[in-house]
Amino acid sequence: MKQTLGAALLLAFAAASPTASHAADVEAGRAKAATVCAACHGVNGVSVRDTIPNLAAQRAAYLEAQLKALKDGSRKNPMMNAIAAQLSAADIANVAAYYAAQPGAAPDAKSAPLANLVKTRVAFPEGYKETFTRYHTINFPATRQVRYYYANPVALQAAKAGKPLPDGSVLFAEVYAAKLDAAKKPMTGADGFFVAEKLLFYTAMAREAGWGSDIPEMLRNGDWNYAVFTTDGKLRPGVNQAECLACHKPLGDASYTFTLKELAEAK
Ligand code: HEC
Ligand code: HEC
Repeated sequence: MKQTLGAALLLAFAAASPTASHAADVEAGRAKAATVCAACHGVNGVSVRDTIPNLAAQRAAYLEAQLKALKDGSRKNPMMNAIAAQLSAADIANVAAYYAAQPGAAPDAKSAPLANLVKTRVAFPEGYKETFTRYHTINFPATRQVRYYYANPVALQAAKAGKPLPDGSVLFAEVYAAKLDAAKKPMTGADGFFVAEKLLFYTAMAREAGWGSDIPEMLRNGDWNYAVFTTDGKLRPGVNQAECLACHKPLGDASYTFTLKELAEAK
């Protein structure tokens, strides 16, 4: 009787323990960090840019709690929600223990993004105005932009047939600053959309066989690659595809495409 009570108490204490890190596998945490998390947080937990937090030397219990909140959606961030959703409880304990054990960094220190996630195979679609279909427009009030969405014939035909977008698909968007009125509010045209004034850049996603092969599964969007182009049609250097891939990742059932419905309905 006494023994059973003792065992029950021990179990109760174990369950109430604020962190499972005593059971964590730091080596497994390191392996996951090096292939996936490093793309944004650096392999040592020193992040690749100012808008992404350092993880190095943060407390394991805090990191675990944040990952759980990002997994269940109570903390919201589209990229991290998509990533945390794919982590098991053991993964969470392991990466938390690993990053907590990394030394803190100087405030201005930054890691380089991962080379395999910076390299993109997407080429600027020369002549797209003649061969692509403009299928959608979206106003962005917060940034006072308007975007025009284009698709090549391969993507358009597949979407119309209700099929997954195949190799050879290209989706492309022109991003414009909207024309502003005297009160600096975007002006709306007769079509109900902001009046496009100045082309800022282009974004693109395209797929061909094998393009996803060097991207870790947790980020991989099938064989899609992503790119940003400057107004003169050159690749914008240093774009971290990990961000594009993470945000588009949950749309696996829709060819990783947010505007698939609009594409299927294009006139
Ligand atoms: C595509 C980039 C990207 C990748 C890859 C990524 N993260 Fe994040 N992570 C972010 C961003 C951005 C935030 C900030 C979220 C916010 O603003 O709420 C963040 C926040 C976090 C936080 C909360 C930190 C804090 O200080 O509150 C943790 C913990 C975390 N990430 C862990 C991970 C782990 C573990 C992995 C790998 C399995 C990972 N992340 C992969 C971009 C990324
Ligand atoms: C924060 C989440 C997020 C990130 C990060 C992100 N996207 Fe998207 N993307 C969206 C959403 C939402 C849409 C739907 C239309 C829109 O809002 O522009 C979209 C639409 C697109 C489209 C049109 C096809 C489609 O899926 O509907 C392209 C092309 C695209 N994104 C490229 C990129 C590229 C390139 C990057 C990285 C540089 C990127 N995206 C990063 C959320 C994201």
